[in-house]
Amino acid sequence: MLLSVLLLLLVGCTHASHFYGTMMTYNPKEIQGSDLIVVVRYKLSFRSCTDGDTWSCSGNCGSLVGTPQIVLEASNELWCQREAVWTWRLSSNAPSSLTLSGGNWISGIKNSVILWKAVTQVELRNRSDTGRPNASPQTTIMPSLRVPSNCRRDYDLLAFDPDGDEVQCRYGMLSECNPCNDPTVLSLSDNCTLSFSPTSSANEGPYAVQMMMEDFPRQTITLTQTDGSFVVKNPFQDLSKIPVQFVLKVDPAVASCTEGVFLPKFLPPTPANKDRLYADVDQTLKILVRAEAANSTITTLLFSGPHGVAQVGDGSGNFNLTWTPSDSHNNESHPICFVVQAVSSSSSSTLYHSDLRCIIVTVGGTPPPANITITPTQTVTETKQTTPEPSTPEPLTPEPSTPSPTDESTLSTQLIPVGNNFVVAMSIGISTNLPWEDIKDEFLTQLKAEFVRRGLPPDLSLQILKSQRV
Ligand SMILES: *[C@@H]1O[C@H](CO)[C@@H](O)[C@H](O)[C@H]1NC(C)=O
Ligand SMILES: *[C@@H]1O[C@H](CO)[C@@H](O)[C@H](O)[C@H]1NC(C)=O
Ligand SMILES: *[C@@H]1O[C@H](CO)[C@@H](O)[C@H](O)[C@H]1NC(C)=O
Ligand SMILES: *[C@@H]1O[C@H](CO)[C@@H](O)[C@H](O)[C@H]1NC(C)=O
Ligand SMILES: *[C@@H]1O[C@H](CO)[C@@H](O)[C@H](O)[C@H]1NC(C)=O
Ligand SMILES: *[C@@H]1O[C@H](CO)[C@@H](O)[C@H](O)[C@H]1NC(C)=O
Repeated sequence: MLLSVLLLLLVGCTHASHFYGTMMTYNPKEIQGSDLIVVVRYKLSFRSCTDGDTWSCSGNCGSLVGTPQIVLEASNELWCQREAVWTWRLSSNAPSSLTLSGGNWISGIKNSVILWKAVTQVELRNRSDTGRPNASPQTTIMPSLRVPSNCRRDYDLLAFDPDGDEVQCRYGMLSECNPCNDPTVLSLSDNCTLSFSPTSSANEGPYAVQMMMEDFPRQTITLTQTDGSFVVKNPFQDLSKIPVQFVLKVDPAVASCTEGVFLPKFLPPTPANKDRLYADVDQTLKILVRAEAANSTITTLLFSGPHGVAQVGDGSGNFNLTWTPSDSHNNESHPICFVVQAVSSSSSSTLYHSDLRCIIVTVGGTPPPANITITPTQTVTETKQTTPEPSTPEPLTPEPSTPSPTDESTLSTQLIPVGNNFVVAMSIGISTNLPWEDIKDEFLTQLKAEFVRRGLPPDLSLQILKSQRV
């Protein structure tokens, strides 16, 4: 076996208490002559933007070029996440592994992890099902997430795979970390859901969460190496492994775990977890995030995504996340995760996090034609119950509170492409016993919010062309 070791130097020092985790993904881009060009992305999370560390490569290493860029520096949380994008040129697609190791994680880690270690197992051999080199699962992770010790929370992590493989998560084992002590306060399912259950105050403090994400083929495939040798992989065998590491901070108990009291609660039009949005190269995608918390003050939107994602807030729980993909992102999908942070009114050092939300942004791909699988929300029938009933002698519609087949709106659509835009004409049946004039504005607002939540661009416009009683 040929072994070569390559070190890449980033700024900074080692041996301080400052690590907040990492993650790495790779994606083969193209073949140039006899070389395979692979894009490797990783995130490094440290207390400050000047801390750093180096990944080392063993196996088939080729040459790597790239510089880390700051994703987000969260000053009151005291972390900085950077993303590096390497262009990796390989003359062979033989396996290799990339390792990050050093010390130390932030101090006081409850599951007794001090040194850091993360390992990526790279599999780039040609797949028989796609005819292309294998890509790793794609994901991103926040440096730190907070939960009060008395609250329940599920972190449904985002993971997808460009080859259509099944992605599974597990905790790191053996030489994948140093050491791989599982955080006892969390349970991790195969489907990448991390569940936190209420625990005693003795368990409060930071935990190092050291996971591995793996891709499994959905059918038996062969992987062929440049030298002609091949291996068979069945659906129970992982192809690649990527590390996903962060800090979970278990905070003191809070008086109420209900979202919207102390813990910020997301409001429309915030995209739902795992929503897919579409963006074009050189066009700015704007993602509206809204949250509320009655008994704390929302201050910050924390996020993790490709570098270049930015946010602005108006100081009252409204944030706009923006991202302008460049040509290098074309035909790729990128995850963006976010959390809204609030501060306690009585103590500025008590911070509360909302749930974690992650979305996928697909660049350059045309959204699937809006062949409306959208079932309009039935909220129309719930709004403004206090408005006087219309004095219709015989109600033509069923009671709003009893969902019945006729309570479902019905849609028929027609697509008219206009350049890159679409005009969609919809005919919608609505059942309500409130006067249409009184509710139509609210109806349009809510329908629009729902469309945006499901991935249509926020600048879509909706118009009523005609309405009539049926
Ligand atoms: C992988 O397969 C593609 C299509 O079958 C082929 O063009 C390419 O040369 C193969 N690459 C390697 C490294 O075997
Ligand atoms: C993941 O698996 C867990 C345990 O089996 C289950 O409770 C949860 O609903 C699953 N999550 C998703 C998103 O499927
Ligand atoms: C939240 O604030 C309101 C009004 O200030 C107060 O009445 C209520 O008790 C608070 N809730 C909790 C759970 O502290
Ligand atoms: C976010 O964008 C919306 C729509 O473009 C705009 O109305 C709003 O003022 C922006 N909010 C912030 C906080 O900048
Ligand atoms: C994007 O994908 C399309 C269709 O698969 C392809 O024609 C195009 O060349 C790709 N563009 C880039 C920049 O890879
Ligand atoms: C659109 O929806 C109709 C009815 O659900 C379905 O028959 C049709 O195949 C869909 N078209 C596309 C392009 O998905």
